[in-house]
Amino acid sequence: DQITIFSPATVANVSCGFDSLGLALNGKGDKMIFSKREDKQLIITKIEGANLPYNIDDNLVGTVIKAMLQKLDLQLGLDIEIYKGFKPGSGLGSSAASAAGTAYAINELLGKPFSKIELIQFAMLGEEAACGSQIADNVSAALFGGFVLIRSYDPLEIVSLPVPDDLYITALHPQIEIKTEDARNVLPKDIPLKSAITQWSNVGGLISGLYSNDYDLISRSLQDVIVEPVRKKLIPHFDLVKNAALQSGALGAGISGAGPTIFALSKGKKTAKTVEESMQEAYSNTEIEFYTFTSEIS
Ligand code: HSE
Repeated sequence: DQITIFSPATVANVSCGFDSLGLALNGKGDKMIFSKREDKQLIITKIEGANLPYNIDDNLVGTVIKAMLQKLDLQLGLDIEIYKGFKPGSGLGSSAASAAGTAYAINELLGKPFSKIELIQFAMLGEEAACGSQIADNVSAALFGGFVLIRSYDPLEIVSLPVPDDLYITALHPQIEIKTEDARNVLPKDIPLKSAITQWSNVGGLISGLYSNDYDLISRSLQDVIVEPVRKKLIPHFDLVKNAALQSGALGAGISGAGPTIFALSKGKKTAKTVEESMQEAYSNTEIEFYTFTSEIS
């Protein structure tokens, strides 16, 4: 009557795939423990690693659980412990890790009444509670693992993509917070057809590169001409870090989700480590605190 789960950090968009591509990091994420209670109350008993609301009505975990119970016309009492492995507002899918982890855990506790796609839909309600939009990229990557494509939002369709063995991700997290909602408010309402063509061609190229293990094609396709140019203004020294990553051998670099985390993809762990060092070096000359890490995608 108790379940402990790990829910991974995720990188959404992956340059060209705004709201439609995501990937899951190996090893970085949140731990959550759900224990059944005798009564029907939902109580958050512990939150470590972030300053988040204990009141179940104010926490997206509550939004997800209540939607799932309502759908089944059930009542359930739970004590909930949340151990955040990374900070909200980092661009690494913090709300998605909580939402996806909750949906997965409750489904297990109830004997798996819901399909994976339904779990994503419940988790998207958590995303909406956190940032105002029902975004699927981070929650799908967290629930499916690996690399995912949101082929369609309505009806929701998720395609699991292959991850080349030698693909590594490095991230630099400047210790400032960007609210997803704010990062979405700066986005253009209309985009020129020429930019749209570049963007969807890159998405196609990136996916083709993942299937064919063509690292050069992946590299050429990691380009975002629509979102990055406007959002990078919210991230201090973005170009400095991106250029450092590219010059030290990264296949590509961009904004992780809504930022401020900057990610780079590399072929091989050795190159990824070199990329991490040069991103670190670039940022150490700035006034902003940061941390970096390199991870497998899984
Ligand atoms: N695709 C979303 C965005 C991810 O970039 O706004 C943030 O949750």
